[in-house]
Amino acid sequence: MIPAEIIEKKRDGIELTPKEIDWFIHNVISEEIDDCQISALLMSIYFNGMTNIETKSLVNSMVKSGKRFNFKHLGKYVADKHSTGGIGDKISFVLTPLLSSFGIIVPMIAGRGLAFTGGTIDKLESIKNFQTQKNFDSFNNQIDLIGCGIISQSSEICPADKKLYSIRDLTGTIPSFPLICSSIMSKKLAEGLDGLALDVKVGNGAFMKNLREAKSLGIELKKIGDSLDIDVSITYSNMSEPLGKYAGLKCEITEAVDCLKGTGPDDVTQLSIDLCANILVQSGISANKSEAKTSLLKNIENGKALEKFEEMVVAQNGDLNDIYSKNNFARNHLKIKSKETGYIKSINTEKIGWALVEIGCGKKVISDTLYYSAGIKTNYKVGDKIYKGDIVYELFGFNERKLKIAKKMLTKTFVISDQEQEQKKLIIE
Ligand code: URA
Repeated sequence: MIPAEIIEKKRDGIELTPKEIDWFIHNVISEEIDDCQISALLMSIYFNGMTNIETKSLVNSMVKSGKRFNFKHLGKYVADKHSTGGIGDKISFVLTPLLSSFGIIVPMIAGRGLAFTGGTIDKLESIKNFQTQKNFDSFNNQIDLIGCGIISQSSEICPADKKLYSIRDLTGTIPSFPLICSSIMSKKLAEGLDGLALDVKVGNGAFMKNLREAKSLGIELKKIGDSLDIDVSITYSNMSEPLGKYAGLKCEITEAVDCLKGTGPDDVTQLSIDLCANILVQSGISANKSEAKTSLLKNIENGKALEKFEEMVVAQNGDLNDIYSKNNFARNHLKIKSKETGYIKSINTEKIGWALVEIGCGKKVISDTLYYSAGIKTNYKVGDKIYKGDIVYELFGFNERKLKIAKKMLTKTFVISDQEQEQKKLIIE
């Protein structure tokens, strides 16, 4: 087959055969296809979409591109969560050890930042020495030993997603249903899951800007899960404001640890507990969500969840002292004060994500360096009252020039009204 012919077919809106998709993915992995050709096919898929048959073929070919885990020998429920991406989303760092503290096996495969959204793997790599690239056997051993872990795609594990993901990040081809579905579900299938809690983000800081779009994506993801015997629960959650107070890289690890200590922000804790509760009910460990939530809060209070998190960090070679270091926030700070008194009407969350990319929490080009101690602290949520002179948000980073650019990018991000405003519902459905 010839790559250009497959690209032209998709460009012209003609359905690709499973064989063509499989051939293309196979050659992406063996590096027989150039990045410019991969980008062209991704853009054609972005514009023309894919049929159900094409999407399913793409998922299958992407799963086949790497090895698949199988934890059946452990005789325990194997589950995970995946979010469609947002700002300040640190749920994975709370959920993974929390579920694991109940004996659920959580072998999470995650990704880096995508466009304006933050990446789980980038955040984990902000922990000194934390190893996100583990080979298949070593991750298998980790799961056998401690029951949980979070790793990145690699040349052995979901290699097709690793390649396509990095190209999508830089080519404006992310918000495409078949590309999102195949990216998420290929990772989840490789984990050998029984159950999956999907967190489909909705709002101006998500890829799906409204509930209608989010639901269409949710339905597609669930269909794929059902056809592959994974019990999928879907939560639609608000992403029209950042999750928690901190967004960036290392600052999000710190905030997640606060949640595991029981002192984190309410929204992060509430969403983590809700998603975990779905899994506890799916697994049969809890009879209903309310019982599950009580048990989950107990494992935060008694320290079991934090203990698991620390166990996971050590298992992946991370430096525990580094997590608790006082130097996790960059020294240069820019504090932005409110020019008026009123109520927060809206927050342009996507803009916050792009400002974070500017200060080094994400990449504009592959060669960019990430600045782990950079980030933003937002002090207000939609509906909150704010007074003239209060600090709306704080940017912190290394490069003062970039902080100033980010500040400029964030002009009019927080809209203030003199009318009272309703708070946003965290869990929409
Ligand atoms: N998360 C993924 O893993 N892939 C996507 O495409 C979007 C969110």
